[in-house]
This record gives sequence, structure tokens and C-alpha cells, in this order.
Amino acid sequence: MYKPHTVCRACGSSELEKVFDLGLQPLANDFCKATEERAGFAPLEVLYCPKCSLAQLSVVVKPEILYLHYNYVTSKSQTMRRHFENLWQAINEGCAPKEILEIGSNDGDFLAYVKTRGAERVLGMDPALNLAKQAEAQGVPTVPTVFEQEVAGRIGQFDCIVARHVFCHVDDWMDFIRACEVCTKDNGCVVIEVPYCADMLAGLECDTIYHEHTSYLTFKAMAALLRRTKFEIVRIVRFPIHGGSVALFLRKRGSEFPGRKFIEELVESTNISREDWTRFASECQTKLRKLSDLVKALTIGRKTICGFGASAKSTVWINACGLSRRQVEFICDNTPEKQGKYSPGTDIPITDEGALLREKADYAILFAWNFKDEIIAKNSDWIEAGGRFIVPTNKGVEIVPPR
Ligand code: TMP
Ligand code: ZN
Repeated sequence: MYKPHTVCRACGSSELEKVFDLGLQPLANDFCKATEERAGFAPLEVLYCPKCSLAQLSVVVKPEILYLHYNYVTSKSQTMRRHFENLWQAINEGCAPKEILEIGSNDGDFLAYVKTRGAERVLGMDPALNLAKQAEAQGVPTVPTVFEQEVAGRIGQFDCIVARHVFCHVDDWMDFIRACEVCTKDNGCVVIEVPYCADMLAGLECDTIYHEHTSYLTFKAMAALLRRTKFEIVRIVRFPIHGGSVALFLRKRGSEFPGRKFIEELVESTNISREDWTRFASECQTKLRKLSDLVKALTIGRKTICGFGASAKSTVWINACGLSRRQVEFICDNTPEKQGKYSPGTDIPITDEGALLREKADYAILFAWNFKDEIIAKNSDWIEAGGRFIVPTNKGVEIVPPR
């Protein structure tokens, strides 16, 4: 099911040090019906590379197990729609592309959006057959495969390659970048958006750590990787999406660009140290304990607790805190593919969003905290009826609105 990972995928060093450990965990998106066979468990440990500062998981789960039938569908939320607008604007400030290739294009929503904003040719690529079919159905041509050098030669060149939250899932980084070299025109750009490691550490977002995210990217590690390629980082833009993300704009070397000195200094100066990870690991254990203790106390007080958002993050919380159906009775989620299934590693069922009000839950753990404002706003009826959200924060968990 998985293979050990021992050599840094950015700089090649084999001196990696363990900095975070959640033990054996189920695959975060392995939502299954009662009759379906589950994929199983794998170690969830983070190793740090002192040479280039890249943190990476100690194992790589086979991609065919993780992605062939993928349950993660890009959110249709207003928050995500706004992010599409912001990202597209940033891309246009950088390169005004007409031909866009998206890697890990999921159900095609981003490409469908950029088509309405002036893109003339789009192509998606995603190994999940179920999602590639959905993309085609909404008019986004999609190649159902993993992006690698072997396929790169067959798809032509583009002004812009966009990879949103997929680079951290990739095992062979050099192969991915080589494939980008093949598919990018000489004056084109590559936009790699990932969760920003510094935001994740500052926000104690340990629920971003799961088997799909094999790396926790730093600028320094990226620069170490790119040194051996045609690309360099020419721009860095931060976004609030998914608890803090960053888009790295790459271009082929050879030309001057505004802000070169600034980017070089930024890359050098934003170091993430082993100590940053050690502190994160210890504070996250406290945060996980705070949720467990709160849930225990509420259960003893005979309160009904559910979850809101059957995200990959929910799987990390539930299994790291050892929560069961006796404590978290169900999880509401608006993704039809997830409803009727069970949370990975547990017997907690996924229901529609309406269950929150229907079942008169007293508390809902907001596992989809990255959509907090939107979700709280749309559940105002339940809050008025006395319902309270339990929201993970950068300190622990808080009750919203306060009791
Ligand atoms: P994500 O952070 O991995 O995108 O997961 C968010 C999950 O929350 C996803 O399964 C969809 C769900 N969700 C709702 O059920 N209702 C909502 O209003 C929003 C924004 C998300
Ligand atoms: Zn390294």
C-alpha cells in the first residue's frame, strides 16, 4: 500500500529527522459505504530536511490507491469562487495567458471559470476517472492521467500551467518540473499553489497533514529543487484559502524580471527550522487534547455532537483524537458523493447539511473551518435555535457564538 520515503525530494539529502508523528492513520479521503472495502492504515510521520528545510512524510502511499476514485471535489462555495477570481487576477498580472493547462484539474471548475474570463484554449489533467468525466460533462477537455514526463511530450505547449494544491501530492518533483519544462512555452509561466508551510505552523493546522500531502513546501526547498532546472521563482503571492496558501510563479531562466532581488532575499530569509516543527508538534498535541477533553465533557453532559464538513481534515481530527460515533454522531456535508458513506477509520456516517437542524444537534465541530464565515452565516437558524460550533483555532478550539 505504501513505500518508505528516505531521500529529500528537493535536495537529495538522506539525513532526514522525524519531527511529527500521529502514528498509524487511515487515508484521509477513504470515505466508504458500509459494503466497500477500505484501503487501510499507514504511518503518518513528518521528516525534516536540515539541508533545505523541506518537511515530508516518511511514506508514500501508492497513487493508484489514493487517486483512482477520488472523493475530494473542489468546493463549490462562495469562498472558493472568490479565490478563483483572485488567483486568475494574479495570473493575469503576471502573464495574461490564453492557453492554460491545469494539472490536477479535479472536476474542471477552475478551467470552466477561466474560459468565461478570456482563456481561449484549456486542457485539464487528472487521474481520477470519476472527476475527469464530470469535467468533460461541463465542457472542459480532460486527460485522465497523472502528469509526468512520459505524457508531457504528447500534449503540446501552453502559455501557462496551473497546479493548484497538487504539487504537494507529487512524489517525484524533478519529473514533474521536467514535464513542465516540456509543456511551457519559452515565455510562459508555471503557477504552483500549495498550502503555505509557515501559515500551517503558525495556525497549528496539523489537520493539513495527511497521506496525500507528502511535502510541506518552503521557498528555500523549492529554490534548491529548481537550481537543477530551467525554472526560477519570479513571484510569490499569498492567499487566505485553505488556512493560508501561496502561489509560486515560475518562469524559464534567462530574462530579468521586476523584483528579482526582493524574491531572492525573500527565499533566503524565510527559513523554517527544525525547532519551528518541534514547537508545532508539541502545541498540536495540546490542541488535539483540548478537543478530546471538550468532547468528553459535553458527552458526559448528554449533549449531542456532530461534525460539519467531511473534509480530509475531519479524518485527521477524528482519528488523532480517537473520536467514535458515540461522541460524534454524524458529519454533515454538502458533497453528494460523500453522503451515505462513513468517515475513514470510524463508523461515523456522513449526512446532508440539513441533518444539523433536523437532528437538533447541540454542537457541531467545524472540521471545514477553512470555510468558517460562509458556513456559520448559512446556519444562522440552527444557531438561533441554540446550536453552537466548535471551531479549531491557532490556540485550541473555541465555541462560536460563545455560550
Ligand atoms: P475541503 O476543505 O477539503 O475543501 O473540505 C471542505 C468540506 O466541507 C467538503 O467536503 C465540502 C464541505 N462543505 C459543506 O458541507 N458545506 C459548505 O458550505 C462548505 C463550504 C463546505
Ligand atoms: Zn532537502
